[in-house]
Amino acid sequence: MDIVEGLPQGKALDLNQSGPVVGYEPNMVGTNGYEETSGSDIVVITSGFPRQPGMSRDDLLAKNKEIVGGVASEVKDRSPDAIVIVVTNPLDAMCHVTFDTTQFPRQRVIGMAGILDSARFRTFLAWELGVSVRDVTGFVLGGHGDTMVPVVSYTNVAGVPVRQKISEQRLEEIVQRTRDGGAEVVKLLQKGSAYYAPAAAVAEMVDSIVFDQKRVLPCAALCQGEFGIDGLFVGVPVRLGAEGVEEIVEIELEDDERAELEKSASAVQELVEALRTV
Ligand code: 2OP
Repeated sequence: MDIVEGLPQGKALDLNQSGPVVGYEPNMVGTNGYEETSGSDIVVITSGFPRQPGMSRDDLLAKNKEIVGGVASEVKDRSPDAIVIVVTNPLDAMCHVTFDTTQFPRQRVIGMAGILDSARFRTFLAWELGVSVRDVTGFVLGGHGDTMVPVVSYTNVAGVPVRQKISEQRLEEIVQRTRDGGAEVVKLLQKGSAYYAPAAAVAEMVDSIVFDQKRVLPCAALCQGEFGIDGLFVGVPVRLGAEGVEEIVEIELEDDERAELEKSASAVQELVEALRTV
């Protein structure tokens, strides 16, 4: 569904026509209205303005609050049992807007960011070491912004802690490139923001829910005491299954990582407060 006439219909037609090649039935519907979305099991909200070069995700707060609030209200009325995956930036704040508007239980409002940020981290690490990205495990927690926390202590290559393979200084550079990962793409594209990696990340979440895979993936979830965070959507490891967020998986963090996560949660808190005044 999109407000631009013709765009969702054209995309749907194009996607349907890849069905015979890729191997699925061409049942995709593109629409400008919400009626066709009624009774959805899963809703992915990507509506809103993307960043322009030089903008931070937070610069989008006011405009996208209105857009996402409007979409969430339609979802609440038409798909009251849906699990909602939020993608619009600033991500953590838009999760709050969706949660407040729909008043769905916290299990059913989830933000997509951690898988994407982790995928960037894993990509850069795989390139650095010249190994397959399949063997690089690592995850990024915290808000989807400049304060995100790539958790180095749990990052490994085929089980070997990455600190044994890459110097602290080089790791710091890779962490920073990860934090700037979205902006790097925006700067190159000049128009629009990252597309394929965010889409792949959303698809992984949808699969885990639809097929009840119970994957443990970093996603934005409403913490209620977990990791010492209360009442905020922050990126944390979650078990994703048919019920949505079935568990927030708590892990031990090193002192500096815990401090960084707290700092990141404070940045989300500031955005949530700003939501009240924009
Ligand atoms: C990104 O990091 C769009 O926020 C998304 O690329």
